[in-house]
Amino acid sequence: MKTKILILLPLVQSILLFGFLKASCPVYLTISPNGKALYDSSLEVNWGPDCYGPPQWIGIYAQDPTISNFQPELLIPRVAIVNKTGKIITQIKLGKLHFPGGWNRQDTSDPPATRYPTGKCLPHYVASYNGTELLTVDCLKIQPNWMAQNKDVSRMPLKNMFLPGTHASGAVVNRTSKSVLIKDYLQAQLFDVWSQLVFGIRYLDFSVGYKNMATNDDSDNFWLVNENMFLQPLVGVLRDVLRFVKRSGEMVVLDFSSFPIGFYKHPEIYRSLFYLIRRELGDEAYQRNVTTNELCANRNLQDLLRQNRHVMILFPTQELPHPENESNLICPPWLRFSTSFMNMSQTLDYMRLLFSRKPESPVKDDGWIFTAVRSMEQTLNSHKLQTAKERAAVLNPKVNQWLKGPWGNNANVVAMDYFSNTNLVDLAIQLNAHKAFLMANEDYVNLEILNLC
Ligand SMILES: *[C@@H]1O[C@H](CO)[C@@H](O)[C@H](O)[C@H]1NC(C)=O
Ligand SMILES: *[C@@H]1O[C@H](CO)[C@@H](O)[C@H](O)[C@H]1NC(C)=O
Ligand SMILES: *[C@@H]1O[C@H](CO)[C@@H](O)[C@H](O)[C@H]1NC(C)=O
Ligand SMILES: *[C@@H]1O[C@H](CO)[C@@H](O)[C@H](O)[C@H]1NC(C)=O
Ligand SMILES: *[C@@H]1O[C@H](CO)[C@@H](O)[C@H](O)[C@H]1NC(C)=O
Ligand SMILES: *[C@@H]1O[C@H](CO)[C@@H](O)[C@H](O)[C@H]1NC(C)=O
Repeated sequence: MKTKILILLPLVQSILLFGFLKASCPVYLTISPNGKALYDSSLEVNWGPDCYGPPQWIGIYAQDPTISNFQPELLIPRVAIVNKTGKIITQIKLGKLHFPGGWNRQDTSDPPATRYPTGKCLPHYVASYNGTELLTVDCLKIQPNWMAQNKDVSRMPLKNMFLPGTHASGAVVNRTSKSVLIKDYLQAQLFDVWSQLVFGIRYLDFSVGYKNMATNDDSDNFWLVNENMFLQPLVGVLRDVLRFVKRSGEMVVLDFSSFPIGFYKHPEIYRSLFYLIRRELGDEAYQRNVTTNELCANRNLQDLLRQNRHVMILFPTQELPHPENESNLICPPWLRFSTSFMNMSQTLDYMRLLFSRKPESPVKDDGWIFTAVRSMEQTLNSHKLQTAKERAAVLNPKVNQWLKGPWGNNANVVAMDYFSNTNLVDLAIQLNAHKAFLMANEDYVNLEILNLC
């Protein structure tokens, strides 16, 4: 009986938590991709889903409003909070991004970075009120340690986890780039890969191109690309991933997903890329059992940590010559589903097909990636040439909202351009905790829930 009560407690908490989120009006902050540069990007206030009892007002603060009665930087009155789900882009800028606790890229590991198991607020807070009564408070936060914290989550096979991800993860442009084409159409992320990981992203998608730079080091020839443009050298980004997993102890899935320039019919270039990956990440790459041809997505975080590995590498093994195609350091790619060429209603239908896990769904019992992006061609057909940012500004909040319902429970990897205009990471953390709890107590919960009802 005692164990039953112990097991039931977190269940009740989790029901209360989810019940609470549904009943009241969640309010949170995100970052709009609208700025010319990162510091210039606006904060967005979001409410919903299902905001039935809207607050009388919402305030944005540069300090934690629960500590003292600070004046809000911005006050949003009740009249502006019309729909049950919505967002307002504010005039408040993100400003210079500084991570606390040793989480800046250039910080040293001495002393070790502070662990933030439940996230750490950046100095941007949002609170909602009824008169002077505080209803909710949230902040813009980093999540460098969310994954390993929950024992039940770390026992969940990767295919059952909700992994927040980015698409074209390396398509970030630094301030020196003047090209409008790159800035408006080929850039896909506001944050560099290091910052994405600090914010909690755990799946990265790399598109690699080859260009002979005529140096002594073959690794100089590999670049992260988008469409047909070379954006930045691959090796620096791989080193950022390595530095992050060493500092955080978290796990990251690296998906080498496309090779648009210089690889076609060149198995030796694929091999050379494999050598580069092995040199940089060989000590951190999960080693799969090749003899049994195991599915990497059946492994969980604890399996990786047991090998003292923190990176799972997805690579098109069939493109590699023998014997590299049989290396235990790489996993065959997971199935990918993209909304590139779809309009909004088609996207919704497609998500229904994939996430409701109906028998006719093309999702298999393995890892899978849902890429919520819209291609330039698709917007061309609608006779309006939207920039990549404009496309993400429309698509991401919708997809995020749809994942908040029951579909989110069936998600695996969800990858976006400009993910920061959603609360994808928080959503994934919440749903993983919920799923892991149900999974860990499956038999018991099935029984007891039936009895309770
Ligand atoms: C706010 O106060 C009003 C009137 O006092 C009340 O009707 C409403 O339910 C309150 N809203 C919330 C979210 O507490
Ligand atoms: C509220 O929703 C309606 C209907 O979907 C929409 O037309 C309107 O623009 C929304 N208002 C705001 C302020 O977002
Ligand atoms: C910025 O981009 C330019 C051009 O792609 C590149 O040469 C330079 O090294 C980059 N700078 C940084 C700090 O990444
Ligand atoms: C792979 O699995 C087989 C069968 O379970 C086992 O005998 C073998 O030791 C495993 N190999 C490695 C490297 O773990
Ligand atoms: C690797 O390549 C060899 C030679 O082409 C082939 O026989 C073998 O089946 C391949 N292995 C895998 C895992 O694809
Ligand atoms: C989306 O595309 C489908 C197929 O091309 C078309 O039938 C439908 O009208 C489009 N919907 C919208 C809202 O544009």
